[in-house]
Amino acid sequence: MRLPGLGGWSDDPAWATVYDWSVEHPRAGGLLWRLGIQSDLRRLYAATDELGTLAAGTRVLDVPCGGGVALRGLRPGQGVDYVAADIAQAMLDRTLDAARDRGVADQVTTRIADVGDLPFDDESVDVVVTFTGLHCFPDPERAVAEMTRVLRPGGFLTGSAVLTDTGLRHEPLRRAGRLAGLMGPMCSGPDVVRWLTAGGVERPSLDRSGAIAYFRGVRA
Ligand SMILES: C[S@@+](CC[C@H](N)C(=O)[O-])C[C@H]1O[C@@H](n2cnc3c(N)ncnc32)[C@H](O)[C@@H]1O
Repeated sequence: MRLPGLGGWSDDPAWATVYDWSVEHPRAGGLLWRLGIQSDLRRLYAATDELGTLAAGTRVLDVPCGGGVALRGLRPGQGVDYVAADIAQAMLDRTLDAARDRGVADQVTTRIADVGDLPFDDESVDVVVTFTGLHCFPDPERAVAEMTRVLRPGGFLTGSAVLTDTGLRHEPLRRAGRLAGLMGPMCSGPDVVRWLTAGGVERPSLDRSGAIAYFRGVRA
């Protein structure tokens, strides 16, 4: 069963606007995250900070880019080659707006892409960024396989997702997300670690924050 009238991600549902608003407002959005999913929004910002350390010429794939929250980490003039990909054109438009606002538009290109069939060559990107995405995909294992396929050896993947093994407290969120068609089957923390490892990522870390966990690892 699916709740009527909400639309999937490609229809730019109202929820996407609410979500984008929350991640772009550290105080009010942070409170919403704390109360709603017991997660610290600053943890997301901290994860994006790493992007500001990348050398000029680094090729980054951000999928799903959504409204471009990860661009918070980029610096004007940094010179990275940042590809922002998403299944929804409305999200790519928001990312471009965010890139202009942050003075990094010259480093960002956008691309419509399904994470389950990424239009990029094997080992062609240095960094994969995938924040708050896995739980939205219909086949998260396939998504991880695709993201690790395009990542070059020595490159790193950093991301986050709502997980299934965070307790009953977050079950209403997961159920509502599935009913709305905005969340997929999702996966547990051990699933993420196992799938990343299968994709060649060595000893991935998993750091929980309420309903969400942050993961990171380097491809061997
Ligand atoms: C909750 S948003 C997160 C976006 C962003 N990374 C963030 O942290 O704010 C989830 C995004 O996944 C995108 N999406 C859903 N299914 C997708 C798919 N199969 N391939 C690529 N993007 C997808 C949606 O369009 C939406 O922008």
